[in-house]
Parts: sequence; structure tokens; C-alpha cells
Amino acid sequence: MIELNDIRFSYNSSSVIKGISHHFEKGSFTAILGPNGSGKTTLLKLLNNILKPQKGKILLSGKDIRNLSPRQLAKYIGYVPQFQSNMFPATVFDTVLLGRNPYIRWSPGEDDKRIASEILVRLHLDDIALKDINHLSGGQRQRVFIARALAQQPEVILLDEPTANLDIRYQHEVFDLLGKLSKSGITIIMAIHDLNQALNHCDGFVLMDDGVIAARGDKKIFSEEQLEKIYKVRIKIFREGDHTYILPF
Ligand SMILES: Nc1ncnc2c1ncn2[C@@H]1O[C@H](COP(=O)(O)OP(=O)(O)OP(=O)(O)O)[C@@H](O)[C@H]1O
Ligand SMILES: [Mg+2]
Repeated sequence: MIELNDIRFSYNSSSVIKGISHHFEKGSFTAILGPNGSGKTTLLKLLNNILKPQKGKILLSGKDIRNLSPRQLAKYIGYVPQFQSNMFPATVFDTVLLGRNPYIRWSPGEDDKRIASEILVRLHLDDIALKDINHLSGGQRQRVFIARALAQQPEVILLDEPTANLDIRYQHEVFDLLGKLSKSGITIIMAIHDLNQALNHCDGFVLMDDGVIAARGDKKIFSEEQLEKIYKVRIKIFREGDHTYILPF
């Protein structure tokens, strides 16, 4: 349903994405893994049309994303960025309501407000609904941006390190929620550093190394030798029944 065909991208003259082709199935929950600087964020921005590839095509259900209006794209893809700098002052509720923009003609309707409220409750943000987002902790803010993406009711959600600032309760809740969303048919694509969290929750893996895909597939793709080469640290993989654990040492 999302298809990348030989995507190449450079910032100025430095090549960062060096010919990537991949197919993300509807309802799959994919972890994009790889060292710092390997191109994960750049890949997510290309998938969301924030950056345009110099070569290659990205197709959403067969349609070239370059031909979709921002409004059409926002109905299709929600994006939770890695870093959120200070924002224009707005309450948590209004920020989540912004996710309804692609559906709103003049001003938000009752339905839009109801959807935003339901999502706030679902993400346990209702207590802070009226706080200014600039006054939140990093983890609270991250959950607000996940809520905003959900309010878009998109078919695909892209998340860049969504659990980096979350305590273990909210990490668990976010993974649990993303797992449920993928089971309901929403395609989840997430950049993440924590290999074990990814192994625990995702069903597909794309391992990036310096702008190319070094390995892809299910959890069987990981080998100590390859991870050591890519991460430049000694790695031990433990496999126990259906569980896989990856530890550096
Ligand atoms: N705006 C930019 N201008 C120039 N170079 C950039 C820009 N953004 C990223 N890069 C470079 O592109 C490469 C890939 O960066 P990217 O942010 O995609 O990596 P990443 O895999 O997301 O890393 P991290 O794990 O640290 O988040 C890096 O070498 C980075 O320095
Ligand atoms: Mg990144």
C-alpha cells in the first residue's frame, strides 16, 4: 500500500538516502532501525512528502504522493516528528483538534470536537486538556502529538522515536495502542532505537545503514555479525521460543 521505488535523496551535495525500494503492507507495524545518522528521519520525511526525493517515486495505494494536495495527504498520513520545538501557544485540546483540519471547511464541528475529546481520554491527556502545550513535559508533549496524528484518522501513521521521552508506563501504553491500531488495519511505520522494544511489538523490520536498507523482514533477519558491523559494538542475540533479545556487551 506504500511503495518506495529506488528513492534517492541528498541534502545539498551529501547523499543520505542512496536508492531505497520497499513495500509496506496495509496494517503492518514496521520498525525502522539503524544507527544515528543512518537516514531514518529523512526516510520518514520523504514518506510524508515534507522532503521530495531527487530520484524515485513514492506511491500510496498506487498514487504518486507528489500529486496529492496537503489536505488529501493529511487524511492519509499522520506524522509524529522526532523533535517538537516550541510551538505557537495553544491548549492541548486545540492542538489535538488541529488534527481534524483536513476534514474541516470553516470551523470545527461537534463531531470534530467529540473525536478530539475521545482521543484525549484514550491517551490519558484529558486531565491536561486545557494546559498550554509549551508548558508540558517532553513526554506529555510527545503524547499530544500522537493524539493529534490520531485525530487525522489516517490510514498510515509515521512516528519518529515516539517513546524516547516516555516513562515505562506510557511506553507500554503507546506500543499497546500502536499494536491495536495496526491490527485494525492502520499501517504503522516507526523509527526507533530500542531494538528490544521493536522486537517485542513490531511485525516488520527495516534495518538502515548509511542510507541503504541492510536487512528487512521479520525478527529472524537479525544476526550478531551484521548488527556488530552496523552498530560497531559487540552484540549477543538470545532466542527463546518466540522471543528474541538483543544485548550489547
Ligand atoms: N537538514 C539537514 N541538512 C543537512 N544534512 C542533514 C539534515 N538533516 C539530516 N542531515 C544529515 O543526514 C543524515 C541522516 O540524518 P537523519 O536525521 O535522517 O538520521 P537518523 O537515522 O534519523 O538519525 P538519529 O538516529 O540520530 O535520529 C545525517 O548524516 C545528517 O547529518
Ligand atoms: Mg532521526
